[in-house]
Amino acid sequence: MGKNKLVVANLKMNLTISEINDYLKFINKEINNPNVVICPTSIYIPYFLKQGYQVGLQNSFYESEGAYTGEISPKQAISMGVRYTLIGHSERRTHFTETDEFVNKKIKETLKYKMVPIMCVGETIEQRSLLRTERILKRQIVNGLREIDVSDLNNVYIAYEPVWAIGSGEVPSNEEISRVVDYIKAVVFEELGYDNIKVLYGGSVSDENIGELNKINNLSGYLVGGASLVPSKLVTIINEVIN
Ligand code: PGA
Repeated sequence: MGKNKLVVANLKMNLTISEINDYLKFINKEINNPNVVICPTSIYIPYFLKQGYQVGLQNSFYESEGAYTGEISPKQAISMGVRYTLIGHSERRTHFTETDEFVNKKIKETLKYKMVPIMCVGETIEQRSLLRTERILKRQIVNGLREIDVSDLNNVYIAYEPVWAIGSGEVPSNEEISRVVDYIKAVVFEELGYDNIKVLYGGSVSDENIGELNKINNLSGYLVGGASLVPSKLVTIINEVIN
């Protein structure tokens, strides 16, 4: 349990409007909590906002406006009341060749508008088996947070999402997650001089394993993908972590 822990639901590119309507009916007041952030496909955001939910983008752009067909800027998002955005999710890094440099530009743009970026980092299974997890995370963190003012870091979350754990049903042990989270915090302290970075865990978080995962005491919350598509599972996770 923890009053200030965040549960972020990443719905990815799922659900039709009629499914969204059913979803909203089911989750109702459980997610009407400032520490629950729903990241639906962008076209559905107004439906969530209308019911008072805290909403996030799944991605945002690094310019505020202009000829960038298909993109959404932090300036636009904040004008709608959307405060959070994922940045650098592994699916964007993989399918849209999003680099650390892009991630860095995008984070800087969100901070200009006082949005809360959730920067996703994580190693692949190959990198893990070659014992390169720390090296990879350090690169992603140092490049992703380059030239960001220390005073802005209290507005930033890092989501540790091992790529091999996303959507696979496999989850690292609590000890492993906790050790990596300590490492992430140490890198942010050593490289940026900030000792209080908030770290989320994501990757196959479910209604079944949240009780165990919630025992990890250096985390500030969870980023939930697949399980958040099933309202009863999301509600179980929220009740465990927040309520
Ligand atoms: P998952 O996705 O919970 O389905 O593993 C997490 C994510 O991609 O953020």
